[in-house]
Amino acid sequence: MNDYGENVTIFNHPLVMHKIAMLRDINTPSKMFRELISEITALMTFECFKDVPTYETEIETPMEKCMQIMVKEKSVAIIPILRAGLGMVNGVHMLFPTAYVGHIGLYRDEQTLEPHQYYCKLPIGIEEKLCVLLDPMLATGGSVVAAIDVLKKKGCTNIRLMSIIAAPEGIKKVLEKHQDVKIFIAACDRELNKNGYILPGLGDAGDRMFGTK
Ligand code: PRP
Ligand code: URA
Repeated sequence: MNDYGENVTIFNHPLVMHKIAMLRDINTPSKMFRELISEITALMTFECFKDVPTYETEIETPMEKCMQIMVKEKSVAIIPILRAGLGMVNGVHMLFPTAYVGHIGLYRDEQTLEPHQYYCKLPIGIEEKLCVLLDPMLATGGSVVAAIDVLKKKGCTNIRLMSIIAAPEGIKKVLEKHQDVKIFIAACDRELNKNGYILPGLGDAGDRMFGTK
């Protein structure tokens, strides 16, 4: 348990922390940055999806028939918040290759830090699915709150968030606006700076991932 209550899981696992240290390093090039994001996401996926809907089915082994548990593949959608969330899709697909993918495009105004939506394409029947939002950075929380608002307007009731690095301000904002959303965070950092960047953080995730600066 942590200071934020039962809806927030913070990994703080040595294998995850080791990869996050490499991710933060200013000298880590884009290729390695993308690989680390995928690997950390895969490690987080194991926990975040542990209560995914399942069903029992009969399987015939070379020895005999037996009842086995399988995942209800159509019951889950992952929704990366563009751009940086895209880097996490592969990490989920490594463990859950059939997860449907929706996209929500949001960018943060550099002055006001308010999120602006420019794209939304979600799988048919999204309202019936477990929806897992992907965004490596939870800073002020504005982007995630806006993405959750979009999903709730579409009728989604079972929403989770997977973020790699979060600021306390962002976690508190999501919990305040959307008490029902479960949050999975790899590391919780100290604070935001005056420009809304996480400290110590890793800088701009989208720019480091795609080499745009
Ligand atoms: C970054 C990041 C989050 C958002 C977090 O995206 O990927 O989506 O900022 O900040 P917030 O919690 O204060 O809203 P950005 O707006 O820089 O867009 P990009 O991914 O296209 O670079
Ligand atoms: N977005 C990022 O990419 N990094 C931050 O530190 C804050 C928002």
